[in-house]
Amino acid sequence: MTGRPIPVIIDCDTGVDDALALLFAVRHPGLDLRAVTCVAGNTGVDGVVRNTLTVLEQAGAPGIPVARGAERPLVEPPRSARHVHGEDGMGDLGLPAPARTPADVDAVTLLRREILASPRPVTLIPTAPLTNIALLLRTHPEVTRNIARIVFMGGAVACGNATPVAEFNVWHDPEAAAVLLTAGVPTTMYGLDVFTRVVVPGPDVRRLRASTEPGARLAGELLAHRPATPDADPADPGGGIGDAGAVCAVADPAGITTRLLPVEVSLAPGPARGQTVVDRRPRPGEAEIHGEGRSPGLVDVALDVDVERYVKLWLATVEGA
Ligand code: BDR
Ligand code: CA
Repeated sequence: MTGRPIPVIIDCDTGVDDALALLFAVRHPGLDLRAVTCVAGNTGVDGVVRNTLTVLEQAGAPGIPVARGAERPLVEPPRSARHVHGEDGMGDLGLPAPARTPADVDAVTLLRREILASPRPVTLIPTAPLTNIALLLRTHPEVTRNIARIVFMGGAVACGNATPVAEFNVWHDPEAAAVLLTAGVPTTMYGLDVFTRVVVPGPDVRRLRASTEPGARLAGELLAHRPATPDADPADPGGGIGDAGAVCAVADPAGITTRLLPVEVSLAPGPARGQTVVDRRPRPGEAEIHGEGRSPGLVDVALDVDVERYVKLWLATVEGA
């Protein structure tokens, strides 16, 4: 590692794979995790706060400020992902309750405070519905002067998961995602196309589960709870690092291949609501020729990921502590 650690803030809905992202972020020497903010998503926001505090304690990083944020999306009702993340949002592993309570300020206030107080521009890493981020950008637009970039897990170029075309984080709060994508901040989309591919093999998951170090053991238990990918060996499926891949993309940007492309969120009611429409056409089409083209913001879209590189990086970081 060269240079000073990158100041980062994670906005999450912990969440099994959000927890894998936190475990990586607190242990990577190239990252300086300055705060964690919580939003409703995988589970209710109070559950997200509890899970986040517990994970940070298990990771040996109990001092990082954590704040509670939005308890529902801007327009939609909250719609959890309990069938993936368990009733408690953390795989129902029976984890201990945290010893501390969150900060006495809300997430937007903490985000503003930490971003403006950082001696160097902050990289924001949302791994959840973008409600807190939209509220921040609308309430305190001056924060953009000290945001280096936003690397968010969300969206998909090809196939969705919440609907055939929409990814969960964007689908949960499409209006908030639209605020982010039109904010004019340099943004990287770490979408489903790369998210689903970074899978830790079964033998590594077993080694982590047998670890005597609490953070590594928790990582193993969480990985064992991740849904199997379609091409996994059913006898030994391993576990995907999910959201943690977006944090790897900040620590080691060379591990993903990105292209700057126009991206727009579909907001209309109906089958495409929440889709990230990524324009990969090589040349303007009839819509543009007939003056009906659109002008979405440009986003660095992750199109490919070096799977082995991120699996190695994540394991070495989480186990190396
Ligand atoms: C996203 O949805 C959540 O279930 C995961 O934590 C991830 O952020 C994937 O669609
Ligand atoms: Ca998440």
